[in-house]
Amino acid sequence: MIPTFSTDELAALQLERLQWTLRHAYTNVPLYRRKFDAAGVHPDDCRGLDDLAKFPFTTKQDLRDSYPYGMFAVPEHEVSRIHASSGTTGQPTIVGYTAADISTWSDVMARSLVAAGARPGDKVHVAYGYGLFTGGLGAHYGAERLGCTVIPASGGMTSRQVRLITDLKPDIIMVTPSYLLTLLDEFERAGLDPAATSLRVGVFGAEPWTEQMRTEIESRFALDAVDIYGLSEVIGPGVAQESSSTKDGLHIWEDHFYPEVVDAVNGQSLQGQGELVFTSLTKQAMPIIRYRTRDLTTLLPGTAHPPFRRMTKVTGRTDDMIILRGVNVFPTQIEEIVLTTPGTAPHFQLVLSKADRMDHLTVRVEAAHAMSGNEIVAKIKNDIGVTVSVEILPPGTLERSTGKLQRVIDRR
Ligand code: DLL
Repeated sequence: MIPTFSTDELAALQLERLQWTLRHAYTNVPLYRRKFDAAGVHPDDCRGLDDLAKFPFTTKQDLRDSYPYGMFAVPEHEVSRIHASSGTTGQPTIVGYTAADISTWSDVMARSLVAAGARPGDKVHVAYGYGLFTGGLGAHYGAERLGCTVIPASGGMTSRQVRLITDLKPDIIMVTPSYLLTLLDEFERAGLDPAATSLRVGVFGAEPWTEQMRTEIESRFALDAVDIYGLSEVIGPGVAQESSSTKDGLHIWEDHFYPEVVDAVNGQSLQGQGELVFTSLTKQAMPIIRYRTRDLTTLLPGTAHPPFRRMTKVTGRTDDMIILRGVNVFPTQIEEIVLTTPGTAPHFQLVLSKADRMDHLTVRVEAAHAMSGNEIVAKIKNDIGVTVSVEILPPGTLERSTGKLQRVIDRR
């Protein structure tokens, strides 16, 4: 399922596919033709992989401006599926797939499941939402492609999920990490031991989560927790996957999705941490050229599946970054601190408000017993360098996730 290439073979395949993609986009999508022409580049100028840097970026705004079908490179009747990005604000971003694209997606998802530790014949409980969101159907097709038995639970109806897991005995669960915590509460409420389930592997993604969350999840459910990354604009889940044998970041399926990391401000290529940019290499319905994901990561060499490179766990999105008196703060940094403070539950929310024209952050944390928030205040001050307020709440106070969690409440 996971193809093996030498480094040279992979590079040659990438170049051939990149040249095809640039031509396909330029010939069939007016937006790409306009942008390439304005930048003075032509698909024929791509003679090596490094030449990609000469081509213009594509942004979320380009996709919004092309709503609904302007980014499609094939006639509408050749599109066999539509999805949309889960953006909570503004216009949804519509994406399309030909039958061959759906097949590619199923293949990369099946590979992701193999890397995660799934095998043909495993039962896979899919609790990502089914619908326009790519999570449910993406996971579903991949698990079927691998030869698994799929349980298409979708999101929500939490007590029924717990019952299905208990009765149907799945080996694998695919769900957002925040909804897994909701399931955890429900197991406990029902008097069931989450560590006693049949689950062997959890494939968690669609939102950022930390090593501390991995420790928390693995200690409460006896399973291997691995990370899956993807985005609708590129294909959906299955762009990159962490291996359960190494748990050291996510291998990018680079024969289909070509990654770059750039400086989020000036767009220059970077070696260290920066904004992830993707170019699709095989997509027919909606080729995407140098798409600015706004997700922050670092590229590293492959370990479990070379020559595919890894990306480190996404620490956050450029647009999730909170700037407090000049200091950049990501919700994942707060998660690391909350989860390693004794007595807290893994449920917290960040509330931004304005006091005396200054931005203020309140961290609302659930704790099983009355405790002071001073330790968290001090750790945040010490590790991140900002002063925040901490509010300790009784268990069950904060709204629970059923899919992607909205961590930050902006009251400014
Ligand atoms: O969330 C696709 C997906 C579904 C991935 C299920 C994994 C599992 P969108 O709704 O388009 O697609 O949202 C994409 O979600 O740009 C990231 O900001 C975030 N994201 C996705 N996976 C991860 C992850 C799906 N593993 C956006 N870690 C992306 C951190 C993630 N953030």
